[in-house]
Amino acid sequence: MLHQEMKYTMGKTLSQLPEETKCTRCRSQATIRMTNHHANFCPPCFTHFVHSAVERAWKKFPISRDEPLMVAVSGGKDSLALWDILNQLGHKTKGLHINLGIEGFSNASVQAIERFAAERRLPWAQYSLEEVFGHTIPEIQSRTRRKICGVCGLLKRRFLNRLTLMEGFQVLSVGHNLDDEAGRLLGNMVRHREQYMENLYPYLPSPHPRMPARVKPLYRLDAYEITTYCGVRHISFLDSKCPMSRGATSHSFKEALRFLEEKMPGTKRHFLFKHLRGKKVPGNGQDFGICRECSEPTFGDHCSVCALRAHVNQPRKKVAH
Ligand code: AMP
Ligand code: FES
Ligand code: ZN
Repeated sequence: MLHQEMKYTMGKTLSQLPEETKCTRCRSQATIRMTNHHANFCPPCFTHFVHSAVERAWKKFPISRDEPLMVAVSGGKDSLALWDILNQLGHKTKGLHINLGIEGFSNASVQAIERFAAERRLPWAQYSLEEVFGHTIPEIQSRTRRKICGVCGLLKRRFLNRLTLMEGFQVLSVGHNLDDEAGRLLGNMVRHREQYMENLYPYLPSPHPRMPARVKPLYRLDAYEITTYCGVRHISFLDSKCPMSRGATSHSFKEALRFLEEKMPGTKRHFLFKHLRGKKVPGNGQDFGICRECSEPTFGDHCSVCALRAHVNQPRKKVAH
């Protein structure tokens, strides 16, 4: 197991802008520079800017504002900011966390969520991967050669969906931001994965009665904006990457976009928004069967989660000495 120190942060400290720098919206003293938007903001106007970005995203979601929302929370900046914004905008929410059993990292994630929820008196539920799947992420890693991030993504998707419905919610909101979505688009383009590109949309309707609808209300905001929001709203989040995700290819695509963005500001935003413009909500007309083991919707007889469980549970071959 890799050991690393877990770090909590409260986002960006606001910059010392020259006194004559005025807020673009209200003309008071600005403390936040938004180079990408050619704007400067004071903290209340910055909060307004972030909330408007989410309101604008919501226009793409055919979901009533009264619909209760399950919020998938990891303890990182994106999901805690998302939870805060949705509450500020008056949505009824409940947090949902899956404890992956990663030494150090998982406890630190839970602590960040616990603190956030207690300070704001928000309800949340925690389940462990061990109780819902039978194994922790480190156990799975020691028993398979598959890339652990892909496996972890598959399990989080499945159990977040299932637990959302079990908790009585029909809509799951996740904290993917503009950088995540643009990075994913680039990755799918480079690998010519057209079928995945179809589903790269901030709203996915429920494709089956056993699956909730999924929304990504932060898709218009980048990591810098979200970290700044955490600073303005005093959100203390876990600022450490998962120790098992080192070398994940998704990091490389985001890194490539960061490089382009530095040379040509606005590239990342344009790249993603151009892709989404005019795109229709992905259809839900897939023909699902039912997994023989767990009764979850799947395309074959067995779903990929049950196949993974069978693989992980195989007796291990003795190593000859
Ligand atoms: P990631 O794939 O780690 O970038 O996370 C993307 C989003 O998935 C986060 O913003 C959360 O909404 C959700 N998420 C990630 N990990 C967890 C977890 N362990 N439990 C619940 N939700 C999670
Ligand atoms: Fe899934 Fe690290 S969060 S492998
Ligand atoms: Zn199954």
